[in-house]
Amino acid sequence: MLETIYADINSKAFKILSSVIGRGPNGYSQDQYKAIIEYLEEIVNFKECWEKIWSDDKLRFGVKPSDLAVNYTLPLLKKIKGRVLWDLGAGTGRDSIFFSKYCDEVTSVELTKTAADDIGEQTLSKNIRNIEVVNEDVWSALKRQNNMMKGFVDVIHAHSFLHYTKPTMTNVIFSEMHQLLRKNGRIVFGVKGKGDHLYGKGEEIAEDVWVFEDGQRRKFYDEKSISKVLNKAGFEVESLKTEREYFDNKISEFVVGVARKS
Ligand SMILES: C[S@@+](CC[C@H](N)C(=O)[O-])C[C@H]1O[C@@H](n2cnc3c(N)ncnc32)[C@H](O)[C@@H]1O
Repeated sequence: MLETIYADINSKAFKILSSVIGRGPNGYSQDQYKAIIEYLEEIVNFKECWEKIWSDDKLRFGVKPSDLAVNYTLPLLKKIKGRVLWDLGAGTGRDSIFFSKYCDEVTSVELTKTAADDIGEQTLSKNIRNIEVVNEDVWSALKRQNNMMKGFVDVIHAHSFLHYTKPTMTNVIFSEMHQLLRKNGRIVFGVKGKGDHLYGKGEEIAEDVWVFEDGQRRKFYDEKSISKVLNKAGFEVESLKTEREYFDNKISEFVVGVARKS
């Protein structure tokens, strides 16, 4: 039975929704459509949390590329000609800027205006011409692109980002990433692991999903649970590892890996 989905057509979320897919579910199931509306409504508040983090400290993660970028994504890029890469949840662009030397085109998707503008300023001052900054939430950016053209991206890089995906949106977003990639394209990711010091802090709102006191909601993964998500979206896992490091003197655990669009 079809459920009536109520959305405030004057809300910001509804305006974004209709600008991306028009009126109605447009190919999404009713459950997915509902999840997208709730996600867009939530984004408005979630965005403020990251705007504050970046306004307080644009160098929170430094300017050096992440270990994921250097040890996992770069070796892949070196094997490809004419490389097209999307960096999701790009922050202030430390990885995007690093990749610009090795790629024909880099697209940096970043929700906050503060961080997105910072990438734009760096590209201007460094005279980098092959980075396009998309200041939007990741679903809107992926879907908008897939509506126009899909199946052309070689590598999606997502460092410390996909664990922020609203659980009801996980399958929708992984499916959009799958559509964006060309056949044999790779996703390179690092998601928070269950051994991270933040696991178990704050309020648990679903299995392994914790909302910390600053408002950040994270899903904590292990190798089995992230593999399940990837396989469901049509990816074949090529490598997977659980890595630990100290950040702010606390254990930061990431499940890192590479998966191929088969
Ligand atoms: C932990 S930071 C990682 C930044 C960057 N990848 C790095 O390693 O330096 C996560 C980033 O994801 C962005 N973000 C969170 N949710 C997002 C969404 N739904 N769409 C796009 N960006 C998002 C945040 O604004 C933040 O800049």
